[in-house]
Amino acid sequence: MQNEPETPPVASMRIKVTRNGPYVVTGSVPLVRLAMVLDADGEALAWRVVQEYPLQEQYRLCRCGGSSTKPFCDGTHRRNGFDGTETASHALYLDRAERTVGPTLELIDVQELCAGAGFCHRAGGTWNLTTRSDYPRARALAIEEAGNCPAGRLVAWTKDGAPIEPDLGPSIAVTEDPVTGAIGPYWVRGGIEIEAADGTTYEVRNRVTLCRCGKSGNKPFCDASHQE
Ligand code: FES
Repeated sequence: MQNEPETPPVASMRIKVTRNGPYVVTGSVPLVRLAMVLDADGEALAWRVVQEYPLQEQYRLCRCGGSSTKPFCDGTHRRNGFDGTETASHALYLDRAERTVGPTLELIDVQELCAGAGFCHRAGGTWNLTTRSDYPRARALAIEEAGNCPAGRLVAWTKDGAPIEPDLGPSIAVTEDPVTGAIGPYWVRGGIEIEAADGTTYEVRNRVTLCRCGKSGNKPFCDASHQE
């Protein structure tokens, strides 16, 4: 009987932001393509896998938006004047967060990380649901919506001070915006380290989104500029 290939340890995985060039991904990071599932009102409901790429030890992901072999880099960034200067804060997520306090939950929010995915819109919105979290249905929806936020802008916390995070295996998801048809960001999941072009590292988190259209004003992270 053949054994399943083992998932490599997340500690060996890395995403290196290169100066005015692609993301160099090492450590056999699984790569998938995800589509957003919308509800009858057109609101984001869930994610579904539409493609799994063959596992590679190393690969280069386009971040200028110009490659003809997306999601992979084809060298176009050398010809299209791509300015990949990183402007994102290295401050810790919690040090930048605003809080919405509800009866059984707190919602932690760093707005500048918004990737515009829209999972926070359903049923009155995640903030409103948090303020009504003494109702089990509202509480469950608030947790679900916050956990589906690919950018990790929103995190639901218990009143005991524990973050409620979805269990995401380390991987990168290539996303697309189903409404505009525009390319969405890379959804980096499961605590993969991201190294800036200058060798410093960003806070390791369970969910972050990296720009892949080249237009973000918060590089390397997505700021929803792909929707403009
Ligand atoms: S980063 Fe190389 S083609 Fe886009």
